[in-house]
Parts: sequence; structure tokens; C-alpha cells
Amino acid sequence: MCGIVGYIGPRETAKVLIDGLKRLEYRGYDSAGIAVFHRGKIEIRRKEGKLTKLEELIGGETFDGNVGIGHTRWATHGRPSDENAHPHKAGKVAVVHNGIIENYLSLKEILKSKGHVFTSETDTEIISHLIDEFVQEGYSSLEAVKIALEKIKGSYALGILFEGDEECLIAARKESPLVIGLGKGEYFIASDVPPILPYTRDFIFMEDGEVALLSSKEVKVFDAKGDEVSKEPKRVNWSPLMAEKGGYKHFMLKEIFEQPRAVIDTIRGRLSEEKGDAVLEDVDFDPTFLKKIRRIFLIACGTSYHAALVGKFLIEEFCRIPVEADIGSEFRYRDPIIGENDLLVTISQSGETADTLAALREAKRKGAKALAICNVVESSLAREADHVIYTHAGPEIGVASTKTFATQLVILFLLALRIGRELGLLSKEEGKVLIEELVRVPHLMEEMLKASNQVAKIARKYLHARDFLYLGRGINYPIALEGALKLKEISYVHAEGYPAGEMKHGPIALIDREMPIVVLATKNDVYEKVISNIEEVKAREGKVIALASPSDREVAKKVDDVIFIPETLPSLTPILLTIPLQLLAYYMADFKGTDVDQPRNLAKSVTVE
Ligand code: G6P
Repeated sequence: MCGIVGYIGPRETAKVLIDGLKRLEYRGYDSAGIAVFHRGKIEIRRKEGKLTKLEELIGGETFDGNVGIGHTRWATHGRPSDENAHPHKAGKVAVVHNGIIENYLSLKEILKSKGHVFTSETDTEIISHLIDEFVQEGYSSLEAVKIALEKIKGSYALGILFEGDEECLIAARKESPLVIGLGKGEYFIASDVPPILPYTRDFIFMEDGEVALLSSKEVKVFDAKGDEVSKEPKRVNWSPLMAEKGGYKHFMLKEIFEQPRAVIDTIRGRLSEEKGDAVLEDVDFDPTFLKKIRRIFLIACGTSYHAALVGKFLIEEFCRIPVEADIGSEFRYRDPIIGENDLLVTISQSGETADTLAALREAKRKGAKALAICNVVESSLAREADHVIYTHAGPEIGVASTKTFATQLVILFLLALRIGRELGLLSKEEGKVLIEELVRVPHLMEEMLKASNQVAKIARKYLHARDFLYLGRGINYPIALEGALKLKEISYVHAEGYPAGEMKHGPIALIDREMPIVVLATKNDVYEKVISNIEEVKAREGKVIALASPSDREVAKKVDDVIFIPETLPSLTPILLTIPLQLLAYYMADFKGTDVDQPRNLAKSVTVE
């Protein structure tokens, strides 16, 4: 949460910072601010609200300096306000921060007793005071930062400027992501890759405890002990266009429509049709380990957790290994029974979700092997896990996950296939059938997307409903949860996902003629039971929107609205079912006029507990 950027080089600094913040706004949008040099002084402009408010504040103002830092905030300590907006400046030191300083109250007391005066309620402000304290004592900028960081407990990605030194931008990282972009005669820092993509694709990914000193001529990185380290730059193959709206009204809509392409990119090079197997070279699992796996834990948060729930069905079906799917924040605090012959799979778009990361650390501490399924290259989860499989969805900017969910389902399908084949539980022939069907999925997704106008009409019809119920069974149940989550997140309509069989144990009491119920009723081995649920809803005058198999006239007759889902294997149907549910949430939100890409109170990557 919160995004930081920094720049040193010949371009118009304020513009680079504002453009960068636009691409980071998904990380928070309670306030925004920049610090840039002008006539040798650090000028700060910051404003509560979205970035456009900051842009209005700056107006036509120009600054002559060649170094600056910027911030977009997701409030933790202190309400959203101009005073609490970053950057924070004390004496000669200006700071932007993503993370949480846990011991800020005690440090604040010490600093106050030394005469420091605080003007915000944030934890961040103490960092600028603390560094300034050491600068005043005569330490160099770099030394002052290092000493201050030794005193701080908590997590941080920092960008720091020093009045009087326009050739110095300092960056530091601990448990919050931070990358350095390497241009020609210019350098960038940011919480994530997209803000820097228009300028360079060469990156240094900072590690915990590292501090970087950037000038217009070079970048020096120091490890936690203070020794200079040589860092291998990595090339990122995302293009800047991937982080643009490309003519769509919202990033979310673009990302929904990009899903067939994202799935193609994710399966490319990972199928051996000949062997009826998945090729997960990036995992290089030791086959003897695979044979010994006692249990698999799938751990994630939010939408990624719903992928984990689907993964449980896939792995248990293909591999007959017991799987537990759990939420990161729950898993870590229940002293999980996990050890050497268990495999922990964390699933995360960002690879930075604090609870998921903590779960991975806990599992590793207890001796389990850890695999990360991530979208963001070199993210914390990717680096801390023993193995990583990347979803190749490209940058996802809309706060509500869409295309990364589809690609997570694909990777879980491939993983289940790989382990199932290795264990001999799936034959080569069975593997071939699965692959053949998986290859058809992008095409079927395109078909599904053609229903977008129909879904828009349904959204309009139910626009004034205050509550929605989503029902699904078996492998489709997690998709009911995901449909409900999408609606809540972006249209602010209350929605609940339920296993259809549980309806009679509670939700049935809510049903009346006002209540739309979305039923996932594609043909599978629980189809008949779902039809009975539809009957039960209709008997109580509920409105049913059914997602059904092609030309299922029986369902069509019974319900108010029906969306037909192309035929595929039940194990791949969740990928197709998700699309109309994403579109339903999208159109409801758009018609209501909510901020689809940046829904209130949410952030894309939740790097705090
Ligand atoms: C936030 C986002 C969700 C996302 C969840 C998990 O809540 O708003 O869209 O599903 O975090 O994020 P991750 O990056 O771990 O998949």
C-alpha cells in the first residue's frame, strides 16, 4: 500500500514523478505529493484526495531541479489530509515512505524531547526528523540514513532527498517493495515496475536491508552491513503499452478483455502435447519430493484465495493429495501443522501481500517446501519461495483482480497436471485430453466476451438491487465467491457467495422478489442439485440469473435471465464462468458511476497486516 517514486536526471522532474504516480495510484489514493528542487530549495506540493487534486494544485508551476520524490497514499497512521500527505520534511530532509514504523511513538517522544516539532499524525514523519537529527550531528547523508534505519522497527520503502545536495537521492528497503530503474544518465526508483517502463526496462530489485545512493552518474547499493554490493540488473519484458488503457474506459474493462491473451501467454512453452504433460521448467521439482508430498497448502488473500479454492479441487482430483486452501492471515496465526513433506503454494498477483508472505515464512520455518505463483517478477514472494511459477498476465492496474485470476487458475491446472502425471495418477492419454481442452480455452474466453452486451443489459435491469446472492457448487463454488467479491469491491452492492447446498441453512430466508440470485448452473455431476436450488428460489419469487451450459433450455425456461457458457471440461469451466461475473460487476459499477479502477478504501497490493 502506498506507492513511492523518485527520479534523478535531466527530464522535467515533476512531470516524471506525476506520471509515475499515475501508474502507482492503484496502491493507494487517499492523498498524493511530490518534493522537487527549485532554486536550490526543496519544494513540497501535497494534497489530500486523488492525484488530480495534486495536479490542480501544481497547475502550471515549474521547478528547475533535477531530482525529486513522490508518493501516493493509502492511509494507515493518520486520516487522509493535506498534513498527513507525504513527502514529510524536517530540517533539510524530505521523505516518502511505504510501510509502517512500529516504534514511531517512542521515537517521536525522544525526538520531541530534543526539540523536534511534528506537524502530522503519521509514523513517517519521524523518519525525516530522525535522519535530520544525524545530519545535524555532522554525519554524511548516507551515514545519517544508515544510523536512522538501525533505530527504526517496521517495514519501509523510502525515497529521501537532502536540501543542499541536488546530486543525491537515497532509497532504502525493508519488507516493502522497491525497484531501481537504470536509464542512460538518469535513474528512477519506484514501488513497482510500471512507472519506470516508459523510460527503461533494466531494473535492480532491492533486497531487504539494502540502501541505495543514486546520483545522476551512478547507483551504489549497500547491504544491511553497510558494504557496497554489486547488483545484477534484470531486464523486464513488459512493454509500457501494457500499462495503458488502450482505448478502454477503464483498466478493469481492458484487463477483462485481455484475458484470452493473458492465458495464451501463461501457457506458452508450458505444454508438452506429445507427453500429455505440463512443462514447468521454472520449478525443477525433485521427482522424489513430489512422490513424498503428504499435503499441499494453498495460501492466498482476496481474489487469489478464490483461485486457491479452485486449486484444491484440481489438485485433489488430478493428484489425490489432500489440499488445504487457507487465507494468509488465518494460516499464520493458527500454529499450522506443516512440515518437511508438505508443499506450501502461495498465490498472489503482487507477490507482496503481507499476510501471504508471512504465511510463506512460517511454513518455511517449519520445514515445508514453498512454491510461489506470482504475477510480479522478482516480488518478495517470488524471491523468498524455493520455487516460483509466474503468471504471464502482464501488469494489472485495476485494483480488482481479473486477468491475473484467470492465469492463476491456468497455472494451478498445469501444476495439478504435472504432479498428477509425475505420480502416475494421470495417464499420458488423459494428460493429452486435458491439454487439448486447455488450448481451446482462450478461444472459448473470446466467445464468452461476446456476451458483454447481454451482461450489460442484465446489469442495468438489476441496477437498483441492494443485495445479491451468488450460488455455486463444487469447483464452481469459489467462482460464486469471486463473483460476489467483485460486485462488492467495485459497485459497493452487498453480495454473498454461498455453496448452493447451504442455501437452505440460512440465505433462503433473505429471498424475496427484490433479490437477484446468480446461479452457476453449468452441467456437471451436481447439475441436478443446482436445478433444485433454482426451483427453491423461484418458489419464493426470487429473481434468478443463471449461467448455464449452451442451449440448456430447461434452465432457460425456469429463470429470469440466462447467460450461456461455452462447453468445456468441468475443471476448466471456472475460467469461463468468471468472465460474465466480472462483466456484471463492472457494468453495475460503471452505471452507478463508482470509481471502477480505484474503489473506495481498497488498495491493489496490501503490504500491511
Ligand atoms: C487486495 C486487492 C485484491 C487482491 C488481494 C490479494 O485486496 O484489492 O484484488 O486479490 O489484495 O492480492 P495479491 O497481490 O496477493 O493477489
